[in-house]
Amino acid sequence: MNDMDALKDSALERIAAAQDGGTLEELRIEFLGKQGSVSVLLKTLGAMTPDQRQSEGPKIQGLRSAVADALAARKQALDNAGLEQRLASEVLDLSLPAPESPRGTVHPVSQVMDELAEIFADLGFEVKTGPEIEDDWHNFTALNMPESHPARAMHDTFYFPDHDAQGRRMLLRTHTSPVQIRTMVSEGAPVRIIAPGRVYRSDSDATHTPMFHQVEGLVIDKGIHLGHLKWTLETFLKAFFERDDIVLRLRPSYFPFTEPSVEVDVGFAIENGRRVLGGSGDAPGHAWMELLGSGMVNARVLEFAGLDPAEWQGFAFGVGVDRLAMLKYGMDDLRAFFDGDVRWLEHYGFSPFDQPTLSAGVGARA
Ligand code: PHE
Repeated sequence: MNDMDALKDSALERIAAAQDGGTLEELRIEFLGKQGSVSVLLKTLGAMTPDQRQSEGPKIQGLRSAVADALAARKQALDNAGLEQRLASEVLDLSLPAPESPRGTVHPVSQVMDELAEIFADLGFEVKTGPEIEDDWHNFTALNMPESHPARAMHDTFYFPDHDAQGRRMLLRTHTSPVQIRTMVSEGAPVRIIAPGRVYRSDSDATHTPMFHQVEGLVIDKGIHLGHLKWTLETFLKAFFERDDIVLRLRPSYFPFTEPSVEVDVGFAIENGRRVLGGSGDAPGHAWMELLGSGMVNARVLEFAGLDPAEWQGFAFGVGVDRLAMLKYGMDDLRAFFDGDVRWLEHYGFSPFDQPTLSAGVGARA
């Protein structure tokens, strides 16, 4: 028994004196490991008589747990001391400037889309999206462009070789207008949405890229007329270009999905070699520029989408987002938008902290 007491005393003493985790682990193995002195004692229980076992068992078990507890307590104490020491020695100076690190910028297209969402949210519009891989029913047929319609050819469509399960031809959407159909079909009326996104046409030069961005607008309600369209576009463009002197000219035009259709021009002047919107296009030194297509939703489109044209009317418009960005922020080559040149992005990009808000002027830059 004296042996056991002596073993316990020396074990506890050495454990208490351990200065680091490594030493502690060595002690654990020495006492509690497979061949450890306490473990060996535990094994002797098997060879004892029941009487011996009854008197010795608790003592040996007590020794085992005393050693195990001491190891755990010492480990905790060492960990705490280590933490205290780190807390005392490591200092974080919050007044130091952040280290120079590469910073990303928000692409002008994303910035403009955020600005659009902000402006139209204020007018009660929701943002909707649709698939870029479309079928020809949503992209053309339901928009009143049947198979043989000449307008289909004007869109320079990228077709896929395959058809979908319903036998529809698959394509990369040529405009955001299919989102009109998808929204009316799935949600019915009334509708007040914008749908920004990528669109694709087989076309490429300084002002055309095979992929570009549009934003679609759609309002369906009762008693909607052309005046609502004009007010909405005027309000949007004034907020977007942050100028009160934006003047619009509505010209009769043709789109299969709107009737009547109106092409919207906006007055501008050249300042420092740049087109600056504002003023009537008929004013001296000014001219008109075609900006977007729009019109009253064609009754046939409402029918395709499952709405009764006797009950519901609406207007729609579509405008190039890249074009809006170029006009507002003064870029002149559309292709640079999609080159991914870091220098261009640093020059024309926006800080992620510059969230567009109406109260600050949607495009405010620090
Ligand atoms: N979808 C047309 C285009 O891409 C634009 C448009 C949208 C015109 C909605 C009228 C109404 O050219």
